[in-house]
Amino acid sequence: MQSTKQLNMEIHQMSEMNRVTVDLGDRTYSVVVGHGAIRETASLLPTTAKRVAVVTQSGIPSSLVPQFPNHQVTVHEIGVGEEHKSLTTIALLCSAFAQAGLTRNDVVVGVGGGMVTDIAGFAAASYHRGIPVVHVATSLLAMIDAAVGGKTGVNIPEGKNLVGAYWQPHGVVCDLDALESLPPREMRCGLGEMAKYHFIARENLDELPFALRIARSIEIKSEIVAADEREGGVRALLNYGHTLAHAIEIETSFEMAHGEAVALGLLFAAHLGEVMGRITSDRVDEHYRVVNEVYGINLAMPEGLVADRLIGAMGRDKKALESITFVLDSATGLEIVPGVREADIRTALTEFVSRLSPQA
Ligand code: GLY
Repeated sequence: MQSTKQLNMEIHQMSEMNRVTVDLGDRTYSVVVGHGAIRETASLLPTTAKRVAVVTQSGIPSSLVPQFPNHQVTVHEIGVGEEHKSLTTIALLCSAFAQAGLTRNDVVVGVGGGMVTDIAGFAAASYHRGIPVVHVATSLLAMIDAAVGGKTGVNIPEGKNLVGAYWQPHGVVCDLDALESLPPREMRCGLGEMAKYHFIARENLDELPFALRIARSIEIKSEIVAADEREGGVRALLNYGHTLAHAIEIETSFEMAHGEAVALGLLFAAHLGEVMGRITSDRVDEHYRVVNEVYGINLAMPEGLVADRLIGAMGRDKKALESITFVLDSATGLEIVPGVREADIRTALTEFVSRLSPQA
């Protein structure tokens, strides 16, 4: 099992900047990955911008907030905690942008984890019906997932991320220095999400030094987003492991964090694939190897979760179409599989829970 410390030491193996291109025609943008990448932020701003509205959160080290000496800068802190991922926060930000005199030629810069980039992106998508946004991702999860791809949004009482917009950033910065101060639980959440890229790309990403693995994960996501920006098809593969994950998050009232739930969801999806005869036990073992050994995530299912309630929540997942739809593995790769039988889900849940390590 690799500790966070070992992974961070590996991060130093990449000394140069990597640039991943998200190829979307006239909205193509770069994701800059490397140590000190924050210094590239100003070069990613639109040339028209005179004003920069930095959207961030308390707790983000000032060394991770880029400076813009040639621009008029205002800084807007949003609250910490899921309850601030709301339309109220969007309204407050848009008012603050107006008071700062932001025009549609100016730019929003979101500096933080996935919550910040989702909110900054949606505020930028809404203000003046859309102004440019650049993301500076400070968590692993934001680097490899939330900051790239253009989905933005906030929660309403009826559900998480139910209101939002597709709004691609003008550029994304992933400064690997940010990971050195990332709390271990946040690191684990990013690693849970990173594990899915092993199965999406069918690559032994663990053969790459960790820093290059980050860049490769971003590249895998970018290729999928470029192929299917609005999730009409292949983009749904990015939800591998997410159907059970969303149900666990709901049933634990979000006590279990997203990336942790995704790690469990990947293992469950492997069992379901095996129950349905799509993959062999060796492939299930490979899922456990990646999640448990490569990323050191050895979680138990949270106590008190009941199969009926999990299945109910999976059926209500907004990604589900008519029946319960899963992304499942096969001998040739991941596929979107609608109409999965409840009996197979129950069998897979039983097998999954009995195999899980009891340690939290
Ligand atoms: N913003 C995350 C995504 O588009 O997938």
